Amino acid sequence: MNASFSYKVKQDDFTNMGHVSSDVRKNLNKMKIDHEIIRRVSTAIYHGEINMLIHAGGGNIDVHITDKCITMTLEDKGPGIENIAEALTDGYSTANKKARSMGFGQGTGLTAMKQLSDEMQLYSEPGIGTTLIMKVFLTDDWEVDNYANEEEDDTVE
Ligand SMILES: Nc1ncnc2c1ncn2[C@@H]1O[C@H](COP(=O)(O)OP(=O)(O)OP(=O)(O)O)[C@@H](O)[C@H]1O
Ligand SMILES: [Mg+2]
Repeated sequence: MNASFSYKVKQDDFTNMGHVSSDVRKNLNKMKIDHEIIRRVSTAIYHGEINMLIHAGGGNIDVHITDKCITMTLEDKGPGIENIAEALTDGYSTANKKARSMGFGQGTGLTAMKQLSDEMQLYSEPGIGTTLIMKVFLTDDWEVDNYANEEEDDTVE
């Protein structure tokens, strides 16, 4: 199994809010992916596409599926995040009045995305943009695989 889906989240496109998430859900359903995995992936993407809209003026979302893993890459050229640890703190938000009037800005999106994914990496540079990579594993052996790789790295030849 090998598939990729790419989406553009357009600036201020609030009427299409949640569209990427629901399209990903549809595609994963067609691929007969486990329902709990679909729930985690589509909910994580939902939080990500909202963040792109309210904090970054849009961006790109790529979803790549293999037998082992679903990788979500969310990239934007927004203002970036100065303090990543602070942004990842539950309850921290810089959402503006408009976003808050729509019910966003509780500061829980990134925390939720971290919980919904098996691995999450957040890279950001102020003035350049933000890249968020989330992985959800489809097999139970990924921890074993990771452990095996670590052991290999430690081997002295
Ligand atoms: N793509 C992004 N570009 C710039 N800043 C971001 C981005 N995503 C998140 N942030 C920063 O991280 C903070 C925390 O994000 P998080 O999603 O947890 O909360 P929120 O979006 O403010 O509120 P909620 O998700 O609960 O509606 C944001 O308020 C913002 O300062
Ligand atoms: Mg958010």
